[in-house]
Amino acid sequence: MTDILSVTGLALHFGGIHAVDEVSFTVREKEIAALIGPNGAGKTSVFNCVSGLYQPTHGIISVHRPGDKEPKVITRRTPDAITRSGIARTFQNIRLFGGMTALENVMIGMDGHMRGTIAGAVLGSPHVRREEKAVLEESYRLLVEIGIERYCNEAAKNLPYGAQRRLEIARALAAKPFLLLLDEPAAGMNPQETRELDDLILCIRERHGLAVLLIEHDMNLVMRLSERILVMDYGRIIAEGRPEEIRHNRGVIEAYLGEAADA
Ligand SMILES: Nc1ncnc2c1ncn2[C@@H]1O[C@H](COP(=O)(O)OP(=O)(O)OP(=O)(O)O)[C@@H](O)[C@H]1O
Ligand SMILES: [Mg+2]
Repeated sequence: MTDILSVTGLALHFGGIHAVDEVSFTVREKEIAALIGPNGAGKTSVFNCVSGLYQPTHGIISVHRPGDKEPKVITRRTPDAITRSGIARTFQNIRLFGGMTALENVMIGMDGHMRGTIAGAVLGSPHVRREEKAVLEESYRLLVEIGIERYCNEAAKNLPYGAQRRLEIARALAAKPFLLLLDEPAAGMNPQETRELDDLILCIRERHGLAVLLIEHDMNLVMRLSERILVMDYGRIIAEGRPEEIRHNRGVIEAYLGEAADA
């Protein structure tokens, strides 16, 4: 399987804080991998670098779109350019346009795939109208797939929390990624919603043929879903392996026990 994401020697420093420190890893085509670790380990910071939100202090990030001959270096590209290159994400702290409807939030996610010009939109050209209709239909279809179409015309801020998390996933899918980065998708969900998330993530992988890199504290979810787990602590990757290997890894257990002892 192709490595669709390669991160090499990634570092992100905030003054003296080494949020990410010489991190290297890959994500393979269509796999479900997890990035776990205690609070403050640097997981979200890795996502922030990969998705272009933060500029890494150093390191190289490259993507290899399935079917392309060569990988492309995306380090220091803008978040929009990175989304267009095939990586979409959700956020630990939900970032939706609260006043806009669920449907509109998904339509915005599709933005990069609309080819119509502003002039075309102003003049209401048939091409643009056709395109708008296609975007509307595709966005609704994503809401159905994610199971929240009943909230189609509700303002995003009025949706129950679990539905907002799902809406973020729908918006990310609208960008047609081949790699989906999910930052704590189960955070704030009740046990029933969390169990339903398993199926949702597996279905998404099948239907969209994409890989998922998942940050998650719910270890049951991580162990059930992941084919491979990367463990971070203090900005570094301290272990990598299959769930059964990670479960028994002494360094990993100590990292988590250390966190429990500090709490
Ligand atoms: N913008 C920032 N400015 C300064 N320090 C930051 C910034 N973002 C993150 N950090 C620091 O970098 C370290 C890693 O933070 P990060 O959010 O990546 O951790 P995390 O593994 O996602 O933790 P959690 O599980 O709590 O979400 C922490 O010490 C954090 O305080
Ligand atoms: Mg985080």
